[in-house]
Amino acid sequence: MSQKKWVIGNWKMNPASVDTVFEFCHAFANQLSADTAWQERVMVGIAPSFVHLGLVDYGLSQESLGDDGDLPIMLVSQDVAGFDKATGAFTGDVSAEQITDLAEWTLIGHSERRQYHHETNELLTQKIINANRANLGVILCIGETKTEYQGGQTLGVLDTQLSILQGLTVENLIIAYEPVWAIGTGLTPTLDEIDSTHAHIKQTVERIFGKPVPILYGGSVNAANADDIAGCVNVDGVLVGGASLQAESFVSIIKAFA
Ligand code: PGA
Repeated sequence: MSQKKWVIGNWKMNPASVDTVFEFCHAFANQLSADTAWQERVMVGIAPSFVHLGLVDYGLSQESLGDDGDLPIMLVSQDVAGFDKATGAFTGDVSAEQITDLAEWTLIGHSERRQYHHETNELLTQKIINANRANLGVILCIGETKTEYQGGQTLGVLDTQLSILQGLTVENLIIAYEPVWAIGTGLTPTLDEIDSTHAHIKQTVERIFGKPVPILYGGSVNAANADDIAGCVNVDGVLVGGASLQAESFVSIIKAFA
């Protein structure tokens, strides 16, 4: 896999309207196309909601933007259905096969899905299998809660979350380490903590998987702390929530990794 850094925006259930999606695309492509040196160093992705995947695809195209369009921006899905089927009677679900028409990667196991949708290791395993079957790259999100962090249980929790990879074939894999207590709170672990936790994850995944995979940090990454986080040797990129919704802050973060 490429040695480039990764900067991926997770839009969650944002924004509220199609107009805002297009405004973002316009401003984002305009700022990113001003100086394209980042393309040599960074893989950029956006994970909009399912309804906005096609809109972002079009919104960033040459057809929509003219010369600013067609930047190498990957589309990422926020989830895939957990049924062992490409199509079928599953109202409200979207299969990995349907997603591959638009996206190259999918998040799996984001802490908000673990928390609000009670996603179990068994379900996450099936989602990874489904994504891989459809040739969709997997960005597996892991992270400890505040109580676990304060109890010194971080590495054990991460090992358990990573253990679902045991015995699975995953063609394209990225791990996103997102401490639950750092998501949307403005809090982050220290740079030393981020770096040493990433080193542990790297070793663990390599042991399970037999090859190195990119490890991204996520949780309150913003334009102000991106430079410092980019300086951590074991950080291969970031998964950005809130700060990816504004073109300016998202572009600053991309530049920090370039
Ligand atoms: P945040 O979210 O950057 O808003 O903290 C990150 C994420 O949940 O992926």
